[in-house]
Amino acid sequence: METIVPFVDLKKQYSLHRDAIDMAIQRCCATAEFILGPEVERFENEFASFLGTQGAIGVASGTDALRLAAKALSIVPGNEVLVPANTFIATALAIHALGAIPVPVDIDPHTFLIDLNDASARISPRTKAIIPVHLFGQCLDMDAVMRFAGERDLLVIEDACQAHGAMWNGKRAGTFGAAGCFSFFPSKNLGAFGDGGLIATEDPLLVEKLRLLRNYGAEHKHSHIIPGENSRLDSIQAAVLNVKLAFLDQWNTQRFQAASRYCEKLRHITEIVTPAVAGIKPYGHVFHLFVIKCRQRNDLLQHLNAMGIQAGVHYPVPIHLHQAFSFLPWQRGDFPVTESSADLILSLPIFPEITDEQIDYVAAAVEAFYVT
Ligand SMILES: Cc1ncc(COP(=O)(O)O)c(C=O)c1O
Repeated sequence: METIVPFVDLKKQYSLHRDAIDMAIQRCCATAEFILGPEVERFENEFASFLGTQGAIGVASGTDALRLAAKALSIVPGNEVLVPANTFIATALAIHALGAIPVPVDIDPHTFLIDLNDASARISPRTKAIIPVHLFGQCLDMDAVMRFAGERDLLVIEDACQAHGAMWNGKRAGTFGAAGCFSFFPSKNLGAFGDGGLIATEDPLLVEKLRLLRNYGAEHKHSHIIPGENSRLDSIQAAVLNVKLAFLDQWNTQRFQAASRYCEKLRHITEIVTPAVAGIKPYGHVFHLFVIKCRQRNDLLQHLNAMGIQAGVHYPVPIHLHQAFSFLPWQRGDFPVTESSADLILSLPIFPEITDEQIDYVAAAVEAFYVT
């Protein structure tokens, strides 16, 4: 079956902005400025001003953004860091890479975001930080998160890898905690043409430290003042991102409109639950993913695939059940909401360029599955 509705359509996005993107890449080639330099500086400045923050440091990936932010904030071996049990594994891997322990926390059954009541029960004397993940593009209630962390003396490192431009009360995701981490993996709301990441922070000392850490600890050439590493945002990626950043708010608006149409079209199907869009403040949810809860999830997924529709599950395996983390002390049954959600959630295709016809085709296919 040919693909009628892809999960994302990066070819279409490129075709709509080909001239500007090609020119930006050629500029890098012509000047041969491939490492750091003006494109990276410009992107860091413009993304910082988009977010409304002081500092932005481009790094090699979202995983590195999380890991380097945690390292710069002195997360050390033996520290515990709270992470949602439902997130992409990179959130937890970044903490594990520092010799610290990612401690999973159960999620809210409606939003699928970290549940602060459960977080409170998972705290130990070794807990040093919490990573709220603005999963699927939904900005968490950051007043509640900051209050929770403040009362317990925990650092907040935001994982905004799926939430570029999302807001809580008019303030962008990634600007509340000590550091906000972004991924520019190609399919993200703001995606590069390869890997890329960024850390946002208000703290000038952290900016300085992260600039050293990402570049071999070098203050100047041959002057290495801390043991750093190589994790820089590529200049060509920054050049692509400089073109795309101008469209981010518009694309997020288009995603929201697509989500609203899905909700309208799917509303009457009693076997599914759609995400709440009514009452969402501007950019409260930037719909990186459109996730429904549904009965007979695996059969519905198969049915959609057979109709030429690409859908996905985010995430089928909770953090504590990955083989990679089998050495951690948690087992099946320890995070019941996450575990039961993992069997019910389904991500339908969403991207800024999705057409009304494509959305209607997906909605009709979902309806046909439950009617027949
Ligand atoms: C929630 C979340 N955290 C972290 C990452 C890691 O980002 P990257 O793939 O750029 O390393 C991703 C994306 O892949 C993500 O979705």
